[in-house]
Amino acid sequence: MSEIDLRSDTVTKPSDEMREAMATAPVGDDVYAEDPTINRLQELAAELLGFEAGLFVPSGTMGNQVAIWSHTEAGEEVILEGDSHIYIYELATMSAFSGVMPRTIKTDDGVLPVEEVKNSIHPDKYYLPDTGLIALENSHNNQGGRVYPFEEMRELLDYARSVNIPVHLDGARVFNASDASGVPVDELVDGFDSVMFCLSKGLGAPVGSVLVGSEEFIENALVGRKRFGGGMRQAGIIAAAGVYALENNVERLAEDHENARRLAEALKKMGFMITPEPTETNIFFANTTEIGVDAEELAGELKEDGIVIGPRDKENIRFVTHLDVNEEDIDVTIDAIESYLTS
Ligand SMILES: Cc1ncc(COP(=O)(O)O)c(C=O)c1O
Repeated sequence: MSEIDLRSDTVTKPSDEMREAMATAPVGDDVYAEDPTINRLQELAAELLGFEAGLFVPSGTMGNQVAIWSHTEAGEEVILEGDSHIYIYELATMSAFSGVMPRTIKTDDGVLPVEEVKNSIHPDKYYLPDTGLIALENSHNNQGGRVYPFEEMRELLDYARSVNIPVHLDGARVFNASDASGVPVDELVDGFDSVMFCLSKGLGAPVGSVLVGSEEFIENALVGRKRFGGGMRQAGIIAAAGVYALENNVERLAEDHENARRLAEALKKMGFMITPEPTETNIFFANTTEIGVDAEELAGELKEDGIVIGPRDKENIRFVTHLDVNEEDIDVTIDAIESYLTS
């Protein structure tokens, strides 16, 4: 039996059909814009999200950072949430490579209050930095896959437009957010100036993300991608996995959400504290404080049964479902945790 890996949706392996699509993909030199498979992926992504153009990038981090580089000037500030991926997990790259400063707003739910955003923008004085960009995250990784509330997002986008500040979406899991909220993905991202989404998470491709925006923005981002070392050659071989993922693996994200919900509900009955409650997408946190279980010890025991989980410390575990975890795997996991608790 293969391992049941619930640490992240980045652990998926390409299916035989995806590998076949990769092996047979037509390719060319993408620095000359001559890779037909990359061109197709970029067009498909732009069309799906309702933007003029797309750019294939090797990772979500590069997509976010190229977007920041493209939207801003050195010396500006970027407003973003204090637990966002861009702020926590991208190695201060916006400061290192783009010369901009993060201005974070700490929240309990990943949602930026519009009033606080307004207060974070300095008056127009020569001795105060300009705000070059606002960045949101949907779904929010560190908030257990929470979906950004639609109305609050629209209010923020309208405000940003009124003061002429661009807004970028870290939509690594925007297709999860779309499924969970029931809002078609192009409506969900309408009004953003750029969106990055990942092919290599719930969509199951081995590599890659796509950045979408206006033609002018993508022309600039192309320069940024080259500067960041992301100019690729016959990378249609990996873009083919992205095309396959967009054509075959979007609708099934609902199964991951159902699996996460069922697992979370079972853990709740066992005494774990679940966040968010109820779960919204394919990610949730389980806290063991009330049942007095050492999360790291539990992880060690489950590993022996071929179940891999990701404790963050002794009391908190992040669970993530994805296309390599099926309904039966969820049953096996529930049984294994139950028998650990009762043994
Ligand atoms: C919300 C979010 N944004 C961006 C990224 C970065 O993606 P990558 O690992 O491809 O650089 C991740 C990765 O986990 C993520 O969760």
